Amino acid sequence: MSIGTGYFGFEVSNLDGWERYADLIGLNVERSDEGLFCRIDEKARRFHFVEGAADDIAWVGWEADGRKEFDDLRAHLGSLGIATQDGDEASARLRKVDRFFHFVGPVGARHEIALGLEDAETPFVSDKVPHGFVTGDQGLGHAAFHSSDHKGDEKFMREALFARLSDYIYQPLPDGSTMHASFLHTSPRHHSIAFAEGLGDGSKLNHFQIEMRDVCDVGRAYERMQAAGIPIMITLGQHSNDRMLSFYAKTPSNFAVEVGCFGLRIDDEESWKPVIHDRISEWGHEFQPV
Ligand SMILES: [Fe+2]
Repeated sequence: MSIGTGYFGFEVSNLDGWERYADLIGLNVERSDEGLFCRIDEKARRFHFVEGAADDIAWVGWEADGRKEFDDLRAHLGSLGIATQDGDEASARLRKVDRFFHFVGPVGARHEIALGLEDAETPFVSDKVPHGFVTGDQGLGHAAFHSSDHKGDEKFMREALFARLSDYIYQPLPDGSTMHASFLHTSPRHHSIAFAEGLGDGSKLNHFQIEMRDVCDVGRAYERMQAAGIPIMITLGQHSNDRMLSFYAKTPSNFAVEVGCFGLRIDDEESWKPVIHDRISEWGHEFQPV
């Protein structure tokens, strides 16, 4: 089974700030009475921002391949004793999907399985990211959560969504503690979801990631965000596990965005051997006090 990340929903207190921020990254932005919606490819709504106090992720949307996979997954979750609920019509319209159901996953985060993500009426064009974003069979990006039990959360996702373990990173942090993280994939993207212990717990989400096709677009985004005075939380560097060349910037909410390129695909499950990396990055990625 292969389900990619289809959309992410956030509850944010500063919609105006997010509108400017998303445009600065290079996303296509649409504002309506219902909230703020962003595109990074041909799909109508990849990111949903609704107004609220949480300043955190509100839902992770996974795209089912078809009706059979959608129904099979729901039956599978039921067989595990995980309660699922239908999404209502208004919520489906907001997400621009045919239908979805939802359940509560690790760290209390809401997960949605959706069918029929609508395409936008116009092609995706971004002046700021002319080469576009990596999506397709890899989904829109990944979500990394703060966890108090990364092995338990990993087990949940492996059982519930048939996620496969990509690898672990156990790295000493500047404050003397150690980060323990599990990285999991549900599609060829090296990881669609990750659970990290030791990175804080102010919010459910540590960061979400988007991947650009071209390194120059990443470099220009890095310069653009610094010029706009956006705090860089982790400087440009390259990860040990997914080889992503990226930087992390503070968002208007309680989590970061990772903007990168060169992410590894896992196409051959048979030969993939999960390992434990002892450092987050091969080079760069200096943590900044913000
Ligand atoms: Fe990441």
